[in-house]
Amino acid sequence: MLDKKVEDLKILFSEEEIEKRTRELAQEINSDFGEKEDLTLICILKGSSIFCCDLCKHLKMPVQMEFIRVSSYGNAQVSSGHVQALDLTLPNLEGRNALIVEDIIDTGCTMKFLTEILCRTHKLKNLKVVTLLNKKIARKADIEPDYYGFEVDDKFVVGYGLDYEGYFRNLPYVGYFE
Ligand code: IMP
Ligand code: MG
Repeated sequence: MLDKKVEDLKILFSEEEIEKRTRELAQEINSDFGEKEDLTLICILKGSSIFCCDLCKHLKMPVQMEFIRVSSYGNAQVSSGHVQALDLTLPNLEGRNALIVEDIIDTGCTMKFLTEILCRTHKLKNLKVVTLLNKKIARKADIEPDYYGFEVDDKFVVGYGLDYEGYFRNLPYVGYFE
């Protein structure tokens, strides 16, 4: 049984704030990558699904979307540091610009693992990372995103794709349980 209730959530970033920041991030990405060259978005399931879908609508270049699945938390609220690759199937990305889209970078272990494996297995032209949330204070791996929406304290947050035991991904805002 789910032991947390949506009524007990404190809103950290509202739907409007997230929408505004997502548009700003897209503008930055548009101006960095330009509008001519293709960009492959690599969406990390399941957490970044909602952010990725909202972000991509504001991108101006020809965009392709790929989806990969990794797991680092299991059902606990503390990052295990152990990254499990559930499905890393991607087409050949040789010579392409790619942007990893993540919901949150916490210890950074997942992102370090992914950037290393992508660089090793694909001759990319350019690889950048965007994350909606950046839990800088929890960082263990040596990695920083190229773009991030908001910095967060070392709190467990849910909503807008982020889950607790598989729930709360559907909330249009990001919040935490007190
Ligand atoms: P990292 O490897 O520790 O950086 O963890 C990254 C992954 O853990 C993210 O992609 C999220 O799926 C998950 N995660 C980290 N912090 C939170 C949180 O506060 N709420 C929900 N999921 C989280
Ligand atoms: Mg994730």
